[in-house]
Amino acid sequence: MNSTAVFELFGVSYSYQNRVLALQDVDLTIRAGETLVILGPNGSGKSTLLKILDGLYRPTRGRILAFGHDITAAADDPELGYWLHQRVGLVFQEPDVQLFSPTVFEDVAFGPLQLGWPSERVRQAVATTLDELSIAHLADRAPFELSGGEKKRVALATVLVMDPEVILLDEPTANLDPRSRAQLLEILAALHRRGRTLIIATHELDLAAALASRIVVFGEREHRPIAEGPPHHILSDQQLLIAANLVHEHLHWHGSLAHSHLHWHDAEHQHEHG
Ligand SMILES: Nc1ncnc2c1ncn2[C@@H]1O[C@H](COP(=O)(O)OP(=O)(O)OP(=O)(O)O)[C@@H](O)[C@H]1O
Ligand SMILES: [Mg+2]
Repeated sequence: MNSTAVFELFGVSYSYQNRVLALQDVDLTIRAGETLVILGPNGSGKSTLLKILDGLYRPTRGRILAFGHDITAAADDPELGYWLHQRVGLVFQEPDVQLFSPTVFEDVAFGPLQLGWPSERVRQAVATTLDELSIAHLADRAPFELSGGEKKRVALATVLVMDPEVILLDEPTANLDPRSRAQLLEILAALHRRGRTLIIATHELDLAAALASRIVVFGEREHRPIAEGPPHHILSDQQLLIAANLVHEHLHWHGSLAHSHLHWHDAEHQHEHG
């Protein structure tokens, strides 16, 4: 075991109801301080992987270590789950799963109170986090009545408020408008600079380009990593991205700071917009 490994997965598989295959024989090591982006198309198993890392599902097969401790059974062992959640936080893909209190303030205060923080520390941490995510004006609103992007930011706040050592983020920029998205990228980059370990599931290549220190690509049918490496290596491999259903061979963006346009090409047509 390497002491800098945050997670080590050995042959991890998961099937829903022993019927629907979601992960197959995954071997993966995630190191302290890295920003690992898990890229994969719909259904390749990204969300399932994050839930397993958060100790919510027990692998059907295989073994997982977190910080060198076996957490394979965390889903069935509340004490182990509590230990894990002191250090690891998950922002779900669907914010509704995460929001259940009468007000936004109470939802964001919930985790810190569970951890036993004194009330003044909780109040301050909640205020700072709401401010950072530009949602202070939502503090007294009911989470269920918020817009999709507002909910997403509240869900992010419920985890970021605890400043966990390891943050699992499932499609963190989905539903965010450009300003909220830029703010979030800035927050995540700052967490990375402060040494936090970030594990981000997405199928957005520009998010990976902006934040990743390493990328792992999950295959649509394989349900396990089919490629991994530094962002410049993975993101310049057009063949891989097309094969992995991360760009479409006929319709995709050609982007750079100077120039970007939507590009549609096939045998008979060459159209460009923008
Ligand atoms: N609760 C569930 N019950 C049954 N099957 C499920 C459930 N959740 C996910 N699956 C199946 O497991 C597989 C992996 O799903 P998962 O949600 O992990 O994919 P994903 O990579 O996160 O996809 P997306 O990009 O759409 O979020 C899919 O085939 C999916 O249909
Ligand atoms: Mg998902």
